Amino acid sequence: MTSTPQSDRVLIFDTTLRDGEQSPGCSMGLEGKLRMARQLARLRVDIVEAGFPAVSEGDHEAVRAIAREVEGPRIAALARCVPGDIEAAWDALRDAPRPRLHVFLATSALHREFKLRMAKREIVRRTSESVAAARELTEDVEFSPEDGSRTEPDFLAEVVETAIEAGAATVNIPDTVGYTMPAEFSALIGHLRRTVPNIDRAVISVHCHNDLGMAVANSLAAIGAGARQVECTVNGIGERAGNASLEEVVMSLRTRQDLYAATTGIDTREIYPSSRLLCEITGMVVQRNKAVVGQNAFAHEAGIHQHGVLRNRATYEIMRPQDVGVPGNVLVLGKHSGRHALRARLGELGFAPAESEMDAIFRDFKRLADRIREVDDADLTALMGQREVGGPAPPGEARAT
Ligand code: KIV
Ligand code: ZN
Repeated sequence: MTSTPQSDRVLIFDTTLRDGEQSPGCSMGLEGKLRMARQLARLRVDIVEAGFPAVSEGDHEAVRAIAREVEGPRIAALARCVPGDIEAAWDALRDAPRPRLHVFLATSALHREFKLRMAKREIVRRTSESVAAARELTEDVEFSPEDGSRTEPDFLAEVVETAIEAGAATVNIPDTVGYTMPAEFSALIGHLRRTVPNIDRAVISVHCHNDLGMAVANSLAAIGAGARQVECTVNGIGERAGNASLEEVVMSLRTRQDLYAATTGIDTREIYPSSRLLCEITGMVVQRNKAVVGQNAFAHEAGIHQHGVLRNRATYEIMRPQDVGVPGNVLVLGKHSGRHALRARLGELGFAPAESEMDAIFRDFKRLADRIREVDDADLTALMGQREVGGPAPPGEARAT
């Protein structure tokens, strides 16, 4: 980690409803967006980016409804650096108690040449004019140089300085295509902090995509280098491979306080409910082994791990499930499980077999686990019943009932 930043508070800018929603399989209707925005307020994110009003009437309506109805976070809307976009975003946002206009313009050589057909001088001029136009409408303006991580660092610094000079209170550095690596991104943030003369007048934000699986690592590296806002999404949804996952960034900062000495305002107990609600609204499932919110995140099957967790959960758990809103850890009984976990689960189900019976019970359990993979409470009850009364319900078939 490099230099010491101004404050240890990291702002969480949630873009689930904008960058997240614009990815395949994640679109949401007005009602869904409102429900999710209210949940994000319960989660206590600092900023909710509600949409991109110029792209569709539906987005415009959703941003307007969220701006009017959702209390707590700042509400942001996205606009390209063109007057029509800025007007549309402001029109949708204007009723929010604390609106933020987020304007963006690509700055990398590739985007300048092939997408925008604009020279560097024109990019600088457009940045200045657009930020100034947004500032006429509201005090809280954020500027993003799209594809910032692939922009020549000195030109990026010039654009960032221009945006701050024109009134941007937040400068957001996107890794738009998920290309950068943590050490490189950290160095880029360090370069901006050293070379942009007015950098202390703005919050440095980062916005990382996950194309190489680095979005969270890059966001954390940037925090280490002094960034104080992270743009992220619940469950990491977003364009292509997604955005930095909110729950992973937040729980990394919390779990590794010793390393980052930075805090967020997130109520972490609302993380799991937020993840579930998003799955319900979009129909997009979370992979079973997803960090923090996946079904396996607090599940243990291996015998050695189960034994450790039964003695002291910290042996194999670095976060408490309750802290992220998951009711408790789960000891999954399967072929890798050991006697300690089996005995503990039998105890919870009201069975207290004598030690002399355990060898046989354990052997039957392993045979069953080999056959059906996960042994649930009904299977165990059936297995014990069979032993006591000669086999009323063949284990493994209890699930069918
Ligand atoms: O990925 C990106 O560059 C963006 C910007 C609009 C911030 O989403
Ligand atoms: Zn993005």
